[in-house]
Amino acid sequence: MSASPEIEEVVRHLLRAKSIAVLTGAGISAESGISTFRGKDGLWEKYDVEKLATPRGMYANPVYFWEWFEERRREMIKAKPNPAHLALAEMEKMFPDFWVITQNIDRLHQRAGSKHVLELHGNAFTIYCTRDGYRMETYEPLPAVPPFCACGAVMRPDVVLFEEMLNEEIFAKAFEKARSCDVFFSIGTSAVVYPAAYLPLEAKRNGAYLVEINTDETPLSRHADVVLSGKAGEILQKVMEHIQK
Ligand code: OAD
Repeated sequence: MSASPEIEEVVRHLLRAKSIAVLTGAGISAESGISTFRGKDGLWEKYDVEKLATPRGMYANPVYFWEWFEERRREMIKAKPNPAHLALAEMEKMFPDFWVITQNIDRLHQRAGSKHVLELHGNAFTIYCTRDGYRMETYEPLPAVPPFCACGAVMRPDVVLFEEMLNEEIFAKAFEKARSCDVFFSIGTSAVVYPAAYLPLEAKRNGAYLVEINTDETPLSRHADVVLSGKAGEILQKVMEHIQK
């Protein structure tokens, strides 16, 4: 099957690129059955997430916080990487300097086989004690919520909540990858949450070719060199088929 002129152009840029960076958001995991935040069927239609998912909300009512969070975690435990995650993991093997910068906490990039992943917002499977900092990883549903540490204090997930700062070291590396790449993809993100949303703009300002893949238009669309409109899994599969020709 022949590719669209847009996909051909993206592939031409990819084949010339030395360094590639990819920013992903909730939309890339939508085809795995994980809820997005915004839009119809988005999580925010159902929960007052901005109140719930803050440090204040969590400490005020850890049971309510954890009931909500554990429901999301179980959705992620059940989910499997989809063709979009798998295509990016394949691409990583073809390019020596290839990085996925994700806002997602579902670990689906790693489960698809990606090795170079920067998790801007943490992950749902590492939890730590709010008193002594003891950390553990668990990929199983929690038997009870909230989880408690042996010291008696409540534990929390290693994710960035609203009103919290990003891990500086991880963001600095993501920023450096965005500034130095030749091609930057923004995939399945509404591109409205900062500082992640600076990354595509920073890449473009430093000369990268900017590709957006999304089912809808976003504030980033007008800055992109090309917008591939549609589902991330279908589009990335087409890109891969064309690269391998
Ligand atoms: P959003 O829910 O804001 O946006 C999801 C985007 O994916 C939208 O632009 C959709 O149009 C698009 N989309 C949906 N299905 C798609 C598909 N199959 N293929 C391609 N695109 C699709 O999610 P994010 O941009 O990830 O932060 O949200 C960013 C941050 O907002 C999250 O990480 C979270 C939230 O605040 C924290 O929790 C710290």
